[in-house]
Amino acid sequence: MKPEIVRSRADLRAQATAWRKDGLRIGAVPTMGALHEGHLSLVRRAAAECDRVIVTLFVNPKQFNDQNDLQKYPRTEEDDRTLLEEIGPDILYAPDVKEIYPAGFATTISVSGITDSLCGSFRPGHFDGVATVVCKLFLQTGADCAYFGEKDYQQLQVVRRMASDLDIPIDVIGCPTIREADGLAMSSRNRLLSPEGREKAVALPRALVQTAEAISRGANPQDSIEAAIGLLETSGFASVEYLELRGADDLAPITTLDRPARLLAAAKMDDVRLIDNVPVLPGT
Ligand code: PAJ
Repeated sequence: MKPEIVRSRADLRAQATAWRKDGLRIGAVPTMGALHEGHLSLVRRAAAECDRVIVTLFVNPKQFNDQNDLQKYPRTEEDDRTLLEEIGPDILYAPDVKEIYPAGFATTISVSGITDSLCGSFRPGHFDGVATVVCKLFLQTGADCAYFGEKDYQQLQVVRRMASDLDIPIDVIGCPTIREADGLAMSSRNRLLSPEGREKAVALPRALVQTAEAISRGANPQDSIEAAIGLLETSGFASVEYLELRGADDLAPITTLDRPARLLAAAKMDDVRLIDNVPVLPGT
């Protein structure tokens, strides 16, 4: 069955309150739509672990630092609803901008520290927009657990921090990155790539995986990272915004691999900003 579309906070709250009264476990999957297998993997996990599932679809203007990017963002609500049909979440919550940010809206949730670098350095205000809307979606859905992809690894850590700091009683569950057959992480932005750009983009996951393996085997992280940046540039990426080794939990910079780490990158192909990351485990 296609999920019921809910547009208003009041209707969503009424439904969620009734479910909670019945002791049902509610799972939420926040998205900006243009759904692909990556999103669907989160919805499947939520459906397996919860009694009721709410998928949210909201292209959040507050997290776009670039207005052109916001305008170009794909909007495919009816296709999204059809894709969800086989999994069967209960509600597709697709509010309009005024429902989320009514006139007079004046509050921003800002998570400091882990937002200062990586994507935070290149997208001013982005994580404030994410933390603010995710906090609202957590409160509006009243969910017991929420599912996020490791594809957006920094976002996952920001959301965990925000929920914990604000005592929001919700389990934030991180789920593995789903990839295309050639290794490119699935992303709503991939459809903005030219056919040539799409082919070249595979250099990003390849460089990350090779570099992670080399560092795990004991190669010097800095040398390996410099080589990987060079490789990306010769493979057709116009700019590599960052490629860095960070602690897996706190995202603190790491120079020696003495604990579980993450190698994270952002780079532009065809003016489309792609991000990806892989785990780096000591001595594997
Ligand atoms: P969006 O980019 O639509 O992603 C929604 C969720 O899907 C995020 O948790 C993201 O990490 C996950 N996701 C995307 N691609 C994935 C992949 N290839 N494998 C696994 N999971 C994947 O992230 C956002 O929207 C927004 O910032 C949001 C959290 C909804 C707040 O507006």
